[in-house]
Amino acid sequence: MSARGVRISAVAHHVPERIVTNDDLATWLDTSDEWISTRTGMKRRHWVGDDEATSDLAVVAARRALDNAGLSPQEIDCYLVATTTPDYLFPATACIVASRLGAKDKPAFDMEIACSGFIYGLTVASGLIRSGVYRRVMLIGAETLTKIMNKQDRSTIVLFGDGAGAVILEAADEDGFLAAELGSDGSRPELLFVEAGGSRRPPTPEDIAAGKHYVHMNGREVFKFAVTKMIDATDVALAKAGLTKADVSFLIPHQANKRIIDAAAKYLQMPPEKVLVNIQEYGNTSAASIPIALSEAVAARKIAPGDIIVFVGFGGGLSWGAVVWRWADGVRAA
Ligand code: ACO
Repeated sequence: MSARGVRISAVAHHVPERIVTNDDLATWLDTSDEWISTRTGMKRRHWVGDDEATSDLAVVAARRALDNAGLSPQEIDCYLVATTTPDYLFPATACIVASRLGAKDKPAFDMEIACSGFIYGLTVASGLIRSGVYRRVMLIGAETLTKIMNKQDRSTIVLFGDGAGAVILEAADEDGFLAAELGSDGSRPELLFVEAGGSRRPPTPEDIAAGKHYVHMNGREVFKFAVTKMIDATDVALAKAGLTKADVSFLIPHQANKRIIDAAAKYLQMPPEKVLVNIQEYGNTSAASIPIALSEAVAARKIAPGDIIVFVGFGGGLSWGAVVWRWADGVRAA
C-alpha cells in the first residue's frame, strides 16, 4: 500500500418527486411563506412518500453517479453512506444500497454524524484511497429527515427536506484532497437530537405520545454555534492547506439556513457568486445537502479544473468540519 492522490471522478443526485412549498406548509401549520423565506431562505423542499426510505434515494443517486463515470457497481471497492436516517437501526444502509446496485461482497458501512456526514465521509473516503486501501470509493449522503419529524411542529418541519447526493472518489496522480478540519462537542446532545429510540431510551408508548421519537432542536443555540464553527473550520482548514481565503474559488456550505450561510460568508469575505446556495429549492437535506449542491454546480459547469473548493458543514453532535479540495479535470455529472 502506498500513499497517492485522490480525485472526485463523478457526482450525481436525486430528490423525491413530491414538492412541498412554504404555502403548502401554511395550510396546516401556523406559519407563512414570509416567515420561512425571511428566516431561512427556503421556498420549497422535496419529501419522500410514506413507502420510501433513505436507501431508495441513495440507490438512484449512486446509479446516476455510476452511469456518469461509466463504471459498473462491481468496479467500486467500497460503499459508504453518510446518513442520520438509516432504513433500520441496523443493518447499515450502505450494505442495502450496495446490494441493490448489484455489487457483490463489497465492503459497505454507514457514517452517522448528522449534517456533518458528507464532510466526515469525504475525509474518510479520501483517507482510504490516499493510504492505498482502496482504489475507488462511492460516498453517498442520503437522508429522509422528514420521516423522523413531527409534521405538526412548525419549529422543525419547515426546515427540512429529503434527498441524496453521490460522489465517486478514485486514486489519482494529482491530489484533490488538500486539508480537513473536523470537530465535535457531545456535551449537550439535547441541542439537536431524537431523545427516544436508541439504547439510552427505548421508546415507550408514553414517549411516543409525547413525541420524543421526533427531532427536537434548540434553533437559536444551533444557529450561533453553526456560524462560529463554519468560520473557524474554514479558517483552520485553509491554513492547513497553506491557502488563504483569496485562493478559494467556491464555498459549498451545508444548506441549513441562508442567514447562517450569509453570516459565515460575510466573515470569510466570500462574494455571493463564490458561495453555492440552493436552499430555496431543497431546504436542509442534512448529509445530502453538500453533494446535491456540488452535483448541481458540476452539471451547470460552474466548477473548472484547478478550482479550490471549501466544503463546510455542521450539525447534530454537535459536530462540524471543512475540507479544502482542488477540483480535477473531466469530472462527470448528469
Ligand atoms: N413559522 C412561524 N413562526 C415560527 C416558526 C414557523 N415555522 N417557527 C418558530 N416560530 C416562532 C417562534 O415560536 C418564535 O415565537 P415567539 O417569539 O413568540 O416565541 C419566533 O418565531 C422566533 O423564533 P426564533 O427561534 O427566535 O427564530 P429564529 O430567527 O432564531 O429562527 C430558526 C429560527 C430558523 C430555527 C433558526 O434559529 C435556525 O435556523 N437555527 C439553526 C437551525 C439549524 O441549522 N438546524 C440544522 C442543524 S443540522 C442537523 O444536524 C440536522
